[in-house]
Parts: sequence; C-alpha cells; structure tokens
Amino acid sequence: MARLIDSGPGCPTPTPLRGRSAAEARGLAYDDAVKAETDPLYPLVADFVTPMEWPAIAPLVAGINRLKKAKNAVILAHNYMTPDIFSLVGDFRGDSLQLAREASATDAAIIVQAGVHFMAETSKILAPEKTVLIPDTRAGCSLAASITGADVRLIKQKFPDYPIVTYVNCTADVKAECHITCTSSNAAQVVEHIAKAWNTDTVILVPDQYLAKNVAAQTGIRILTWPGACEVHEQFSGEDVKQLREAHPGVIILAHPECPPDVLQEADFAGSTSALSNYVSENQPNKVVLLTECSMSDNVAAENPNVNFIRPCNLCPHMKRITLENIYDCLVTGQHEVTIPEDVRVRAKAALDAMLALPKMARPLAFKTGQVPLELEMVI
Ligand code: 13P
Ligand code: SF4
Repeated sequence: MARLIDSGPGCPTPTPLRGRSAAEARGLAYDDAVKAETDPLYPLVADFVTPMEWPAIAPLVAGINRLKKAKNAVILAHNYMTPDIFSLVGDFRGDSLQLAREASATDAAIIVQAGVHFMAETSKILAPEKTVLIPDTRAGCSLAASITGADVRLIKQKFPDYPIVTYVNCTADVKAECHITCTSSNAAQVVEHIAKAWNTDTVILVPDQYLAKNVAAQTGIRILTWPGACEVHEQFSGEDVKQLREAHPGVIILAHPECPPDVLQEADFAGSTSALSNYVSENQPNKVVLLTECSMSDNVAAENPNVNFIRPCNLCPHMKRITLENIYDCLVTGQHEVTIPEDVRVRAKAALDAMLALPKMARPLAFKTGQVPLELEMVI
C-alpha cells in the first residue's frame, strides 16, 4: 500500500535539466521566435513544468511542431503520455481504439506513435502506405510479451470450435492468428458479437486474464483465457480500493479493466482510458482516484481544474520510454520505422477490420462494477 500516497502531479517531464539541456545538445535555442511560438502553450503544462524548466523544453516543442509541418507528420498520443507530449505535441489523443481509427483516417505521410510498440504496429497494419515511426523500439508491453503467434496456433489446434478474440495489446503475429481484436472500450461488444456470429456460448479472449475475467463477469458468455497481465494494473487490489475509501471519505474511484476483478468489484466506475477521462469531465466529482497509469491523472487533471485528484501512481516503464527528445530525433532521422511482413500484416488487418466493422459506439463501453469476481479456465 506504500505506493498509494497522496501526491502532486505524478509524472514530471522526463527532460533532463542538469548541464547542457537536451534541446541545446540538438542545437535548439530558446530564441525570440521559439518564445513567441511556445508562450501560448505554457499554460497547458503549467502544473507540471516550472517557468525555470520551460526554456529547456520549449525549443524541443517548437522543433517538433515545425518538423511535423515540414514533413507532413502527425503524432498519435496515447492517454498515458506525459503531459508535455500529450498536451504540447500530440495531434490526436485518446485510447487504443481512438488512435487506431485516427491512424486509418489521417492523410499525413508520417505517423509518429507516442505510445508503445503494439500501437505503432496497429497503425502500420491499418495504414501500410504511411511511414510509421516509434521513437524508442524498447517501448514494449507485458501483455504483448506474454503470448506469441505460435501460442495462438496451438490454442486453435486445441480448441478448433471456439473463436479467438485478442486484446489489441499484442504483436501483429498474434493478431494475424486471431479472428477478431478488441480494446478495453469495446471488449464486451466484440465478445458478444463473435459468440453470436459463431453460434457458440464459449469464446477465447487472450492475452489479458483480468480483462477476460472482467468481460466474463458482465456478458454471461463462457470465456477461456491466457495468463497474461498488465504489469501496471495487476498491482492494484480490492484492498487498495477499500483503504482509499477509508482514507478519503466520499472519493469516487475509477479503474481500468486491466485491473484484477476485485478492484472493479470495489470501484465506482470502470472503462478504457477515454471512458475514465469522459467520466471525470462529465461528472466533475469532488475527489477522484484513477486506478491506472500515472500520466492519466496528470492529463485528466489538466482538463478538469475543479476536480481534486488523489494520485495512486503506477508508472508504465514502456510508455515512459517515449520522450520529447526521442520524438524530435525520430522526426529528424526517420528512425525507427515499423515494418511488418506483408502476409502477417494482411491477416492481422483482417482481425482489426472485423472489430472496426462493428457498429461504432457513441462512447466507450463502461464495465459493470460491483460484480463478484469470476475464475476462468486457462487455455494452457
Ligand atoms: P486503452 O487506452 O485502450 O484503455 O488501453 C490502455 C492500455 O493499457 C494501453 O496500453
Ligand atoms: Fe502494456 Fe500495461 Fe504498459 Fe499498457 S500500461 S503498455 S498494457 S504494460
């Protein structure tokens, strides 16, 4: 419980401030033109970046925004990006499903994925004619690392009669072997759809066992799953929620569905990162906790100045690989381009297209809270 402390903004900008700044090392100065361009942006991050730090950060922001224009590039920024990236250089912001839709819709020549590798792969799968760059190739994901395409082939041999849904947090190889993908904003819709289409009462949902348990608790469909977990969300527990309520009477507790089911049992609301963000904007709770990655609270707090955020903080080390510096560098050098063998891409696209063809929901689906946790059968 030690990590669940009240604190200020959880995730300071990673730009190093000792010695020569990262901007100076790249030949970027805080001159009058940069100052004029970036002064209007400073209020967006004033809670996270001090006026003293700003001259070290502003040249990178101006540099990135100029390069985007010059190269016809867009930055797709996931809700877990630090506020400097999210608010100052992101062109499209959102959850995994929103970013996937933006990737296929944009007419930019270059997509810079300010997120993790599987998200960049999703963009490339959907927009093969575009150059997709990931600023740091080490930006992985514990869920994506937990399962391979070969694993899914074995599952298919063992359970040939059941459709296999994969959470988008997986590699292109895994998507290529599955029948349909889902995200945290449409998982129940996808599982119900595929069960009906296959005329079956049993669906396999990989690789996130907790997402699978949380979907099973509200769809009434028998779900078999895989023992993968998000290393950020699996750290939260129902006990944490109870202790937060005791420590902060009246607090509203929101959780991401990658959390274990006992967390959702105790929470007030659960959904994708965008569903959590919408809840706060629409309900303006007096005191709120977001049981998810640290930067979410920072980004949602910036847009909701009247809401008090209590900030339990679990950082995703993979999301935090992405910085203003490596975004700037990737726009300058064109590194690191994401490529996928065409046969894999085409099959992975079929799984993504099956999801994207479902009726577009007006808003991300909320998960029911207060449900009794279910144990599910594993496919291995
Ligand atoms: P969403 O933004 O789709 O809720 O996904 C959360 C996540 O963990 C992405 O890595
Ligand atoms: Fe993966 Fe979890 Fe990080 Fe998202 S937050 S990238 S699911 S490890």
